[in-house]
Amino acid sequence: SPGSKVLLHFINQSGAKTSVTATEGESLLDIVINKNLQIDGFGACEGTLACSTCHLIFDESVYERLEPMADEEMDMLDLAYGLTKTSRLGCQVIVAPWMNGMTVRVPQGIKDQRVTQEAKNKQ
Ligand code: FES
Repeated sequence: SPGSKVLLHFINQSGAKTSVTATEGESLLDIVINKNLQIDGFGACEGTLACSTCHLIFDESVYERLEPMADEEMDMLDLAYGLTKTSRLGCQVIVAPWMNGMTVRVPQGIKDQRVTQEAKNKQ
């Protein structure tokens, strides 16, 4: 039912695990911000698909069950640092009850596409 609570585990860049209670319908970006998860540079474009800093890595069994990617997410994800076969953009992944107990990993580095773009424009 809408508003049901889901337990999620985040593993940060240094390998530390934080467990949070999320609410169905929130994005993973919302959770990082609302729970103050302290991931450097995460979610720089506030979910507007312009930065790729919300890159997260999923277990394969979870990844396979996620909603399909829109082209816009695919294009932005392609530019993410340390892309894996089970990567997604956290601002596009919405919490569902079946995710209860899942573990999400933060990649080792972050690359903000907007900064890359600015640097290019200055050249
Ligand atoms: Fe920028 Fe997700 S927060 S693409």
